[in-house]
Amino acid sequence: MKRLDEIEWDAFSRLPIEDKKPYLERKEGDGLPFHTLFAQQFDRGALERLCALASRIRFINKSREGALYLKSILAHKRAMLYFSQPSSRTFLSHLAACQILGMTTGSVRDAATSSEFKGESHEDSIRTFSSYFDMIIMRSPVQGLAEKMAWELSNSFRPVPILNAGSGKDQHPTQALLDIYTLVRSFEEKGGIDGRTVVFCGDLMRGRTVRSLSWLLTDFRDVKQIFVAPRELQVSADVVMNLAKKGVDFEVTDDLRAAVRTADAVYMTRIQDEWDSAKGESAKIDTSRFKFGAEELSLLGPDGVIMHPLPRRDEIATCCDRDPRAKYWRQMRNGMWIRAALIAATFGYEKEIMDCGY
Ligand code: NCD
Repeated sequence: MKRLDEIEWDAFSRLPIEDKKPYLERKEGDGLPFHTLFAQQFDRGALERLCALASRIRFINKSREGALYLKSILAHKRAMLYFSQPSSRTFLSHLAACQILGMTTGSVRDAATSSEFKGESHEDSIRTFSSYFDMIIMRSPVQGLAEKMAWELSNSFRPVPILNAGSGKDQHPTQALLDIYTLVRSFEEKGGIDGRTVVFCGDLMRGRTVRSLSWLLTDFRDVKQIFVAPRELQVSADVVMNLAKKGVDFEVTDDLRAAVRTADAVYMTRIQDEWDSAKGESAKIDTSRFKFGAEELSLLGPDGVIMHPLPRRDEIATCCDRDPRAKYWRQMRNGMWIRAALIAATFGYEKEIMDCGY
């Protein structure tokens, strides 16, 4: 068992991601995370356990008695939601997940309302939150910040867990968990995720959800990944290199219609123009062929699924919304269940919930 308080920050930050994983696990050694920072932390066993726990929580919550039981699980814990980047679903689904488990919560949604505005460092802000709360759920535009904060806290008197709710252009591990949970549920009675073809389309270079989900899909057998984007926004080299290293079948293309014909799942994303280095940069790129509409819907197989992390702009036409293959609404709600599962597991309540009589 490796401990995050036994390694210096410089040495830890330089480790390859796979080697960081053991430092982030619960000290009880049950294979589940204490800090959730990267998609690469989750192996197939952990994914299956979290999905099973999410389904269990979803079921228990249906009855009043069950819902009240769940509310007792973490009634003695408090969570801080620290979101210094815009968010609707990720913020609200984490909040709802905390509420399902009976946690009380506090939030900062704008650094301008916290003492960071007075010049306080991120480190000092996080230590402040950890003085009052038992978990910090954070979203930040700064790549790697959640990781640094996790190290800081593990080396403080109050080592509370960090959940990364989106860091820079890099990682969005809890989104990848809910995307996997959505795929698991969509293919539950149809043979599962193994052997499927997943098509990613849109801004694959700057979309952190695509990066995190691509990593997680490599935990499954024979999943082909197809990346459809304009040349300027194609998936980055580290994602491609990871797939090549693992011997995963993948394709990089700009032909959405051809890809949809072979797809089991199509994962659409918006253009992430908030990262433009010059104003209007993205608007100059021709994205007209990277939208999913009635024509694409007619090419998708009867068991195919359409996903989107949301928010969407016009990359999925609203005429697709009522089609049973459109899973993006359900995907959004799945986020609440899998985040409740992750939070419960982080505090060591997996077994108790799985074995309870509800
Ligand atoms: C995504 C994000 O913030 O990365 N949204 C989300 O968390 N559901 C995707 C996006 O903003 O396009």
